[in-house]
Amino acid sequence: MLSLSFLLLLPFHAVQSAQVPLVSGDDWSLNNAGDDWNLNTLPNVNSTGHLVFDTISSLLQHWPNTKYHSGHNIVPGTIPTGTLLFHGVRNESLPTTAEWAAFDVEFARLFCDEQCLLMSLVATRPLRILYFDGSSATKIFDGPMDAQDLLAWGAVLPERATVDWEYERLHRLCDFADTMGIDGYVRMQLNFEVMLCDFTAGVRVASLSKLEQEPLIPHLMYAFMHSGAWHDHYPGEMRIQLDLTHAVSLYDVDLAPSLVPRRHGLARREHRVLGIGAHDAQAVAERVRAIPASPSQSGIDWRALFQVIRARYATRLEVLQSILHEDTSPHRAFVLIKTALAPYRVHAAVPSATRSDVSWATPVFRLCATTYTLFDQTNFTASEHVLLTSARETTREICRTLVGIWAEGILELRDSLTPKWRADVDRLVDWLGWAEWLKCRPACAFDESCYLPGAPFSMAKWNVSEPRCMRLFEPYTDIYEPYVL
Ligand SMILES: *[C@@H]1O[C@H](CO)[C@@H](O)[C@H](O)[C@H]1NC(C)=O
Ligand SMILES: *[C@@H]1O[C@H](CO)[C@@H](O)[C@H](O)[C@H]1NC(C)=O
Ligand SMILES: *[C@@H]1O[C@H](CO)[C@@H](O)[C@H](O)[C@H]1NC(C)=O
Repeated sequence: MLSLSFLLLLPFHAVQSAQVPLVSGDDWSLNNAGDDWNLNTLPNVNSTGHLVFDTISSLLQHWPNTKYHSGHNIVPGTIPTGTLLFHGVRNESLPTTAEWAAFDVEFARLFCDEQCLLMSLVATRPLRILYFDGSSATKIFDGPMDAQDLLAWGAVLPERATVDWEYERLHRLCDFADTMGIDGYVRMQLNFEVMLCDFTAGVRVASLSKLEQEPLIPHLMYAFMHSGAWHDHYPGEMRIQLDLTHAVSLYDVDLAPSLVPRRHGLARREHRVLGIGAHDAQAVAERVRAIPASPSQSGIDWRALFQVIRARYATRLEVLQSILHEDTSPHRAFVLIKTALAPYRVHAAVPSATRSDVSWATPVFRLCATTYTLFDQTNFTASEHVLLTSARETTREICRTLVGIWAEGILELRDSLTPKWRADVDRLVDWLGWAEWLKCRPACAFDESCYLPGAPFSMAKWNVSEPRCMRLFEPYTDIYEPYVL
């Protein structure tokens, strides 16, 4: 039922600056008065604001980091005092070196099948960590480990994404951790783990239990899969508090310009850190090393802001897209868009008689696109500038698309508009790439889980664009049954 490849992918813990403006154009800059508010200007193909926005607002969540399994962010955070961590061991001696611990006991339980001793550890002070997003504990060659290689080895070395290199990787990461005073690293592979550099610092053993012996397959393995689902979506794994004001993104084109040509023409899922130039690799490590112990004082709650923007548009765009695919008339779509734009439809925007000229709608576009991002930036960190730009680029493109459709529809609603609007909305939804739109249809039964098959299962069985209803309680769904090639 569960193949060996499943187990092999498990972690081994007891087993020069280039600006890429949003829009094409010579004198365009995001913060200048000369902003391009032309409703026909598409985003630059190389812009990454929407990718920063989506990855940052998806941190610590299972699904989006499975859909796009090669992480692009290194984010500092803390595990609060009193947090319990679990470690499966085969004898009673406390690890004296760096080791892994899990946030969910169902994960740790997989590592103590014989003579099972399960240790719980409690944080005695806030533990400082760095988090690698994506399916960063997945030991495969095609990208999930790229970002951590930059801190471990100063370069991406895909051939080392194997179980055999795990301790060497851990020790090198801990050497790096020493230089900046952090306690460990958080990674994800279906579930979250922390690589603690010192099992005697900042944690104490709260309990050590010798557990009943039981084969891992099937019950304990399905319990592990079930526990992963607790962190599928926002807010995700909540036992880690991230400091977004010092998040380091590999999608930051000022920090890693060498990745722009590497990504060019690739589907988003193929984006990786592999191919980063030596100069940029060093700059990333230096940026990480310079992260201070506490968040900056700008006071902006970036996580809440990003979630507010997503919530405003996620369901609306999903329904809009399906209406445009179902109906021949554009009427329902027009009403939905008009309502979504209600807070921005200023009185001064009066349609011009010429159908081809939609410039009269510019004030609506502008208000829609800037409403959530009008901050005083005086005390922003470099990371916060990247975050602000990402929110601006994302909302700008959502608003450009919606206002463009509304401005067309306000003059006359004819059926011939529907195919064009459908193409516009399909393009926007694809560009945003939000995991909110992965759904089980029809919805699953109450005792089933809507499951997104990706890492750590055998890659041949992945289908990260199509979640499936699965029984994680007896009688189990054979996890490979729906995916037989
Ligand atoms: C306990 O386990 C560790 C790691 O498996 C091993 O290195 C050590 O020798 C073991 N100690 C005893 C007393 O068996
Ligand atoms: C996007 O990047 C590629 C590779 O660096 C470059 O060749 C291309 O001209 C860029 N396109 C735009 C519109 O900037
Ligand atoms: C920037 O930080 C300084 C010092 O902490 C503070 O006095 C000032 O009010 C801050 N400015 C803004 C715009 O938040």
